[in-house]
Amino acid sequence: MIHCEGLVKIFKTEDLEVVALQGLNLNVQQGEMMAIIGNSGSGKSTLLNILGGLDRPSAGQVNVGGWDLLKIRDDQLVEYKRNTVGFVWQNNARNLLPYLSALENVEMPMLLTGKLDRAYARQLLEWVGLKDRMHNKLHQLSGGEQQRVAIAISLSNRPKMLLADEPTGSVDTATSDQIMNIFRQVNRELGITIVIVTHDLALAGKVDRVVAIRDGLTSTEFVKRNPNLDLASIDSGVGALQEVHEAFVVVDRVGRLQVPKEYLDAVGIGGRASMEFDGDKIIITAPKTLEGENNNES
Ligand SMILES: Nc1ncnc2c1ncn2[C@@H]1O[C@H](COP(=O)(O)OP(=O)(O)O)[C@@H](O)[C@H]1O
Ligand SMILES: [Mg+2]
Repeated sequence: MIHCEGLVKIFKTEDLEVVALQGLNLNVQQGEMMAIIGNSGSGKSTLLNILGGLDRPSAGQVNVGGWDLLKIRDDQLVEYKRNTVGFVWQNNARNLLPYLSALENVEMPMLLTGKLDRAYARQLLEWVGLKDRMHNKLHQLSGGEQQRVAIAISLSNRPKMLLADEPTGSVDTATSDQIMNIFRQVNRELGITIVIVTHDLALAGKVDRVVAIRDGLTSTEFVKRNPNLDLASIDSGVGALQEVHEAFVVVDRVGRLQVPKEYLDAVGIGGRASMEFDGDKIIITAPKTLEGENNNES
């Protein structure tokens, strides 16, 4: 369903280039329900927006359901978004219409594409457990219920793939479990491929596979080293841990590079570091002065 190879996304602003994805590889099988985990700023949303056709890649290969998203024309992209992808965000309330009922909210995108299917709209609301609340106005529903309406809406165009960016980011644990169960159910019943982006490691045990992303690279090495990750909770992801990637960092035009926080923590580098050049290596270490002296200086 998804094939990314050497995927690069660079955001250019006035004086700086941010390399959000730096040659990312990812393969997702049709019908798979998988999670992408990673810290804030690691490029998860950037990846999802590219997969969803909301943003264009800069370089590399990205093919989803037979579409080449690097070469796709604008008019094809509209068709791609309409027929291939469903999207769920962390905070969907903004995209919902508060004074319409749950059912009317699900029917709205169907009306917009001229494919109103009332029976299917009801079916979707039943799937997300809102059979008895479908005639309630949206503003009468709780946050978790609204999130479930949003999931029903994301499925209203019968997409082949569902992309969810932090879908449980602003709900409590019980609602989060419920949402994950809904994803599992639609994955089984509709055979739909589901990619869930999260920084919540607890969700890892509820999907078929977990891929970790760090600094715009999918890196299984990260999974292995992250002390917070309970490896026992990742079933089929464990096989992938055998392979270790070399981690690359990008050095920008003025020579800045980002050192992974865990490296800095491991050698105890806080605000300052000392740097040596030995002819073919650059060595970054914790300053030789004592912490206390640093504090006095600053
Ligand atoms: N539109 C943009 N313009 C410039 N930089 C961006 C833009 N979107 C994201 N970035 C940068 O790209 C990196 C990855 O961001 P993002 O994909 O949102 O990470 P995540 O979703 O994992 O928190 C961050 O350094 C972020 O600041
Ligand atoms: Mg994000």
